[in-house]
Amino acid sequence: QTGMFTYDPGFASTASCESKITYIDGDKGELLYRGYPIEQLAEQCDYMEVCYLLLFGDLPTASEKEDFVHGVTYHTMVHEQLKNFYNGFRRDAHPMAIMVGVVGALSAFYHDSTDIRDPKQRLIASYRLIAKMPTIAAMAYKYSIGQPFTYPRNDLSYSANFLHLMFSVPCETYHPSPTLERAMDLIFTLHADHEQNASTSTVRLAGSSGANPFACIAAGIASLWGPAHGGANEAALEMLEEIGTPDQIQTYIAKAKDKDDPFRLMGFGHRVYKNYDPRAKVMQKAAHAVLDELGVSDPLFETARELERIALEDEYFIEKKLYPNVDFYSGIILKAMGFPRSMFTVLFALARTSGWIAQWNEMIEDPSQRIGRPRQLYTGPTRRDIKPIHERG
Ligand code: SDX
Repeated sequence: QTGMFTYDPGFASTASCESKITYIDGDKGELLYRGYPIEQLAEQCDYMEVCYLLLFGDLPTASEKEDFVHGVTYHTMVHEQLKNFYNGFRRDAHPMAIMVGVVGALSAFYHDSTDIRDPKQRLIASYRLIAKMPTIAAMAYKYSIGQPFTYPRNDLSYSANFLHLMFSVPCETYHPSPTLERAMDLIFTLHADHEQNASTSTVRLAGSSGANPFACIAAGIASLWGPAHGGANEAALEMLEEIGTPDQIQTYIAKAKDKDDPFRLMGFGHRVYKNYDPRAKVMQKAAHAVLDELGVSDPLFETARELERIALEDEYFIEKKLYPNVDFYSGIILKAMGFPRSMFTVLFALARTSGWIAQWNEMIEDPSQRIGRPRQLYTGPTRRDIKPIHERG
């Protein structure tokens, strides 16, 4: 039976689908969304245009963009009853735990967008998910610090609205500077899609059974949470704090190289990139802009850059082609912007929602789509017969 299929742990060499959305050349360190380089998208487009691109295949014209933004903002509020879910969580619950629960709970609210064979219903579900994620994410934060929930403002951009939801209070409205609004938008763009990573594959696999779209995205959020995936941004900042000063770096490099030590450099290495992750480069540049704008000099940024410099000159990292990934510098920017580190992965989930939905839609429209059903190599006992209970052992 083993001859019938290939054993490929971690699916390192198995293409699970055909896709027209995102292209990665891991050797060159190149990333394209629908053919457009990530560097150009980061510089010349906003996140709403990127969402449109991922969903519909090309950048919008001005009027297409206007319609799309209208479609998204129309759905930014959440059902008032959804608030009750938050009260069921402990105040110290990790916001990713809340996200998994609350986004999954959306599947009980929208019965008019669950016929996944109907493109119109899929579109409404897509709008709803992109629109409500900032509201739901900020509510998780507000709940954790005991502040009242903030209502969305549809006159603001997607990113400015999110910053408002996070940091405004009833007695004072938060007004982000254009640099911070831009940085937020850039972070969303950089995280929007990354072909068949673990969480996207989870969304596709869950969706392949015809499952409810909101429940599929909740499954993606659960997968993203792990420290080997989206959880690495939180773990990377924790690591930098633990390292503290540049003179400690060599100790941690030695730990990362030690096979008997489970420690790994967080925000380093990638299954596909065997070169610099292009998103990390853009992120490093953005970190400069944000820290300058805020007049913050974060010693952890210096530690991060020194860690990168030393690692990239070290034989172990050179030989294994380990470079900084998207999660290495994002925490520095997010921390400077006032986000607690428990929200870092939530921001990743918020931004990745557009990619998850684009991939989910593409899968459903694919005529060759079948339920995902990997096989296994069975290594358990061969056939045997049950003994009466007093004869066992
Ligand atoms: C994301 O897939 C995506 O596209 C994900 C993502 C996206 O946008 O969706 O890009 C987002 O998840 C980024 C990755 C975030 N995770 C981390 O930063 C955690 C630290 N990195 C790793 O644990 C690891 O590099 C992975 C999980 C990212 C990749 O894992 P792989 O492909 O299974 O590689 P591996 O763990 O088998 O590593 C290969 C070798 C091993 O050594 P050997 O057994 O061959 O001797 O490289 C070593 C590893 O021990 N290695 C590291 C290391 N990463 C890999 N050694 C020290 N520090 C590290 N960070």
